[in-house]
Amino acid sequence: MPGGGVAGRVGAVGEAVDRAWVGRQVVAKTASFGGYAERVVVGAEDLVGVPDGLEPRTAAALLHDGPTALELFDNADVKTGDRVLVTAAAGGLGIQLVHAAGATVIGAARGARKLDLAREHGADVVFDGVGGEIGRAALGITRRGGWFSAHGVPSGSFTTVSEEEAKRLGVTVRGIDQVQFSGDKAVRLAERALSEAAAGRLRPVVGQTFPLADAAAAHAAVESRAVLGKTLLLV
Ligand SMILES: NC(=O)c1ccc[n+]([C@@H]2O[C@H](COP(=O)([O-])OP(=O)(O)OC[C@H]3O[C@@H](n4cnc5c(N)ncnc54)[C@H](OP(=O)(O)O)[C@@H]3O)[C@@H](O)[C@H]2O)c1
Repeated sequence: MPGGGVAGRVGAVGEAVDRAWVGRQVVAKTASFGGYAERVVVGAEDLVGVPDGLEPRTAAALLHDGPTALELFDNADVKTGDRVLVTAAAGGLGIQLVHAAGATVIGAARGARKLDLAREHGADVVFDGVGGEIGRAALGITRRGGWFSAHGVPSGSFTTVSEEEAKRLGVTVRGIDQVQFSGDKAVRLAERALSEAAAGRLRPVVGQTFPLADAAAAHAAVESRAVLGKTLLLV
């Protein structure tokens, strides 16, 4: 069964687990699979408490993309005035952190043509959430001394850049491995994302929801590129 994460209330805990968790609103990763369910079992160490006042849906939307966006943003060291190109700009990861840093954001959505917008000036930092040909085109307009994050795969493949090519272009390239988290780090980043949202500094866009029973329709919508922001399944 698919599903990498859930939001809900803790119904029961094992003997060795703090009973204060019972009844709390939480989000948790589900070891990559098993989240498409009405009830799940997760490790107590993977529970992330949802701050008071934060909608469970908002917390669910942030469980994976919040930590990923924070880590990508922290690693790239985006500065005020930088020109930042984001492919898959209307997807779940979005552009809010880059915007808040005072950078000029160039968002590419639906097609390589929109990269023309960026080509004119070149980009200091590229967050490539698409991969494939669009990612290669984005690499081509990254400035010398710039930063290219090749974390996107919706096109079917990550953007691949050899060490020699990165050196020749004078671009620092990072791959998907920079955003694979587990254990403490995953929980700490999720807590940070939720507290940023509770403080109103992160506002994930939940573009559409589907009942869990219509999960197939949700997948079809994502595959057809018809969705905006994050898509959630509701129980
Ligand atoms: N920790 C992690 O490992 C982690 C976590 C989150 C995300 N990611 C990576 O980051 C990528 C971006 O995340 P996201 O949440 O923003 O993705 P998303 O919400 O699934 O958005 C993907 C977007 O990519 C665009 N796209 C361009 N070419 C496409 C193609 N050939 N097929 C399908 N879509 C295409 C579509 O936008 P347009 O139609 O507007 O072009 C689509 O909306 C993910 O796909 C994944 O590779 C990794």
